[in-house]
Amino acid sequence: MLKGKFITLGVTGSIAAYKAAEVASLLAKAGADVHVIMTAGACKFVAPATFAALTGNPVHTDLFGGAGGRLIPHIELAKAHLLVVAPATANILAKAAHGLGDDLLSATILAAKGPVLFCPAMNVQMYRNPATQANIAALKRYGHRVLEPGRGQLACGEQGEGRLPEPEEIFEEIARLLGPAQDMRGLRVLVTAGGTREPIDPVRFISNYSSGKMGYALARAAAARGAAVTLVSAPTALAPPGGVQVVFVETAQQMYEAVLEHFPQADIVVKAAAVADYRPAKTAEQKIKKEGETLVIELERNPDILFELGRRKQPHQVLVGFAAETENLLANARRKLAEKNADLLVANDVTRPGAGFGADTNIVKLIYRSGETVDLPLMEKTALADRILDAALSLRE
Ligand code: CTP
Repeated sequence: MLKGKFITLGVTGSIAAYKAAEVASLLAKAGADVHVIMTAGACKFVAPATFAALTGNPVHTDLFGGAGGRLIPHIELAKAHLLVVAPATANILAKAAHGLGDDLLSATILAAKGPVLFCPAMNVQMYRNPATQANIAALKRYGHRVLEPGRGQLACGEQGEGRLPEPEEIFEEIARLLGPAQDMRGLRVLVTAGGTREPIDPVRFISNYSSGKMGYALARAAAARGAAVTLVSAPTALAPPGGVQVVFVETAQQMYEAVLEHFPQADIVVKAAAVADYRPAKTAEQKIKKEGETLVIELERNPDILFELGRRKQPHQVLVGFAAETENLLANARRKLAEKNADLLVANDVTRPGAGFGADTNIVKLIYRSGETVDLPLMEKTALADRILDAALSLRE
């Protein structure tokens, strides 16, 4: 999740500066691009070379240029996805709370567009001092995040709060701040995935090429955004997503029953499964033996799950269907949207390279009831999952 993220880590002059090395190491190992700013005080505790070695980037100490040849370092370093100050002394909290910018770190904090994460570390009296507390309150008012320091034996020998939170704790907070938005918290999302299997006899079935990747990506993305997710899954080779309630089914009939059971509680339903339209009218009890030159298997219709959901849909529920087409994409998809009373249809031409079954990518059109269509470029199914959820959220009343 932190892969490729640009993080500026400000280190100030506290005995806990050595713990910032551990934070830098955890971030670098997670794939983040970490740029360290050290104040003059920090350099008294740890050598800049330590951070340079851990991050693979030059360390910045000078407001007026210096390492890395950046012309205006505080502006460049403020463009990070996240600015973290760990440890944060009472002094840097005071400077940030009052808008001072007399060294590289304070100027970078001033120039930061987004929230800054401060991880205070200091003597307990300094921490409890009303001036420090007022500064922390001001920083929070400005939208910054200030971690609670730990309690215990402090480096100065006193007991109380003021310890820098553990590097793992700081790392987790960074991951949380840079993680997906929690914009689906409180919503229940029902997703279907995979291709159903319709048994012919005890050893054979009719199915399709669906891999389940799109539906699993949707379930995972919705859960990451805070939704309570139920995934009704036909067989796939995929590992079940963590934090998701998975209901495993095989046939279209079983999927129909499971989906109808969970439908009344759902706010958003995304039907990514490839459901067999027909099933063998009779499933042979024993393995069918080869006899004649031809074999005829009579098929009968399966229920259309999406159609049934469209019929039962309540005004607050958003229904998203898929259409897998090999011809007349737009016309067929528009017809399905109307017939099945869906709110949004994700249409893909499965004949295009990079689209459809099995691939990790897809190329789709989003078709809204209003008639609006949005052509999305080739993208990873994981990224597409978020686009589909964005669209579904925009349709909620
Ligand atoms: N679907 C469903 N139940 C079925 C068949 C399809 O719920 N028995 C859903 C799929 O999950 C998908 C949408 O309907 O969201 C469209 O599926 P698709 O296979 O593209 O279309 P069909 O309805 O089968 O129409 P056609 O046979 O005309 O292509």
